[in-house]
Order: sequence, then structure tokens, then C-alpha cells
Amino acid sequence: MRNYKVLFVCLGNICRSPAGEGILKRMIKEQKLDNYISVDSAGTSGYHDGELPDSRMRHHGSRRGYKFDSISRRFTRNDFDDFDVILAMDDSNYHNIMRLAPDLDSERKVYRMVEFSQKYNHDHIPDPYYSGADGFELVLDLLEDACEGLLNRIKEGEL
Ligand code: 4NP
Repeated sequence: MRNYKVLFVCLGNICRSPAGEGILKRMIKEQKLDNYISVDSAGTSGYHDGELPDSRMRHHGSRRGYKFDSISRRFTRNDFDDFDVILAMDDSNYHNIMRLAPDLDSERKVYRMVEFSQKYNHDHIPDPYYSGADGFELVLDLLEDACEGLLNRIKEGEL
């Protein structure tokens, strides 16, 4: 299997993308794929640079056994050189990432996370920042499902 570097991207890099990162990392560990796949996350805004994930996201994650502890950083143009697969949580993230893409090869690395959904039919991963507990639980449900789909596609060599 070839090596992959995967980057999750949302707006603040404190809710959705650190959750995606933590969920995929656990699946990779469980399936002993650590030597092949590495994972990181970033935000398009830089609003929360240097911060841990939102305490609500950490709380909901910990109830499912996840530890979300990455430090928020802004997405940059250099990330196109450093990563093979770049995952946008919603259309706004997608367009903000694409605006920075220097060439066609870079654009081809960018996907909407929901493209990998299996049992859900949402057209984006909704921003939970101004939502209640339900919003955070929905993000985790959608991300667990799509991370599984993503990992299957990677294992099948389709990305
Ligand atoms: P995220 O959620 O993009 O999933 O990390 C948000 C976090 C912070 C803000 C918006 C969304 N904010 O406006 O500060």
C-alpha cells in the first residue's frame, strides 16, 4: 500500500477537523495502518490559532473514547505540497481551500468529506459552534461514517 498524508480542514480547526483527525487516527491505529497513513488538521480562518479543540467537542468525543488534542493552526498554500488528500467539511471550506490551490494537481487533492459518507446523505458536515449537544453528536456520527468510507477508498487504492 502506498503512503498517504491526510488533512482535515474546517473553519476554526477547533470542532469538526480535529474530530475528523482524532476519529481517523483511531481507525488507523486499530487497523495497524500507522506506517502508511498520517493525519493532521487545519482551519481556513486562523481565528483560534494555538488553541486546543473546543471543550464541547472534546467532551462529546471523550464519551466515545476519543481524545481530541491537536492544536489549531491555519491552512496554508504549503499544505498542498505536504498532503495527498485534503478534506473540506463544508462548501465554504471547500471554496476557501480551492482559492489557494496553485495548480490542477493541487485542486485534485481536495474533496468534500461527505463524498465518503456511507449511510448518511448530508451535503456537508454542519458547523456545530452555535449548536447544542445534538449538533456535536451529529458531527461525530457523520465523521465516523465518512472516515470509514474514506479509509476503505484509501485501502482500495482509489484515492
Ligand atoms: P469548526 O467550528 O470550523 O468546526 O472548528 C467553528 C469554530 C469556531 C468558529 C466557527 C466555527 N468561530 O466563528 O469562531
